[in-house]
Amino acid sequence: MLRPLPAVAAALPRLRVLDLCCGAGGVSVGFHRAGFDVTGVDINPQPNYPTGPGFRFVQADALDYVADHGHTFDLVHGSWPCQRFSRATAWRGNRDNHPDLITPGRALMQATGRPWVIENVPGAPLRPDYLLCGTAFGLNIQRHRVFETSWGGGGDLLSPCWHHRQVLPFEHKGERAYADAMGCTWMTNLEARQAVPPAYSHWIATQYLTHHHSAGPGQAAA
Ligand SMILES: C[S@@+](CC[C@H](N)C(=O)[O-])C[C@H]1O[C@@H](n2cnc3c(N)ncnc32)[C@H](O)[C@@H]1O
Repeated sequence: MLRPLPAVAAALPRLRVLDLCCGAGGVSVGFHRAGFDVTGVDINPQPNYPTGPGFRFVQADALDYVADHGHTFDLVHGSWPCQRFSRATAWRGNRDNHPDLITPGRALMQATGRPWVIENVPGAPLRPDYLLCGTAFGLNIQRHRVFETSWGGGGDLLSPCWHHRQVLPFEHKGERAYADAMGCTWMTNLEARQAVPPAYSHWIATQYLTHHHSAGPGQAAA
């Protein structure tokens, strides 16, 4: 495989992605693997958010942060809380207790003028530009997530799911098995329950870089 010379690679500017509502960093790790420097923002402390070159965590309200700083990034991702739209809330909770942050979040992301991605559960008010499932990546999980993008997808929707493949019954194997199957090995069980597998955001990042990115860092095409 051809690799850039180290001196050249070091000199190449890296694209910067803003990961809003980052949790313990499932989405962040996928973008990082695709070559982005990642700034994760969450309203709660995230002691297990990845550290090291290319990762930065900011504790803040994501709506405020994207309004103030979103325009300084090459790409903006938002995993706005899903509780209002999840089936679990419909069964066991009250949707009115969970505000819709997708609608104001989308407006603020659009106002940055940067390309953006919103991820959420099926049933959330998103245009399904991409629908991803762990089984399509060879992961042993059935976990559907919808992605709406500023570029509107592009016919690369990953389907169908491969649910005919054996998927382990995790209740018999413990939560650790679930986190590991998600590819979120650095998280606690609770964090992994809320997370997006890095394989999903890596695939979205690759779609963006391959088909929709046409400018250098700081000049990303919307
Ligand atoms: C579904 S989880 C995100 C999972 C994460 N994207 C991942 O892949 O690991 C939603 C996160 O939104 C955070 N959150 C909720 N309201 C927020 C707000 N107003 N600003 C920033 N973060 C918020 C929660 O603390 C939670 O960590």
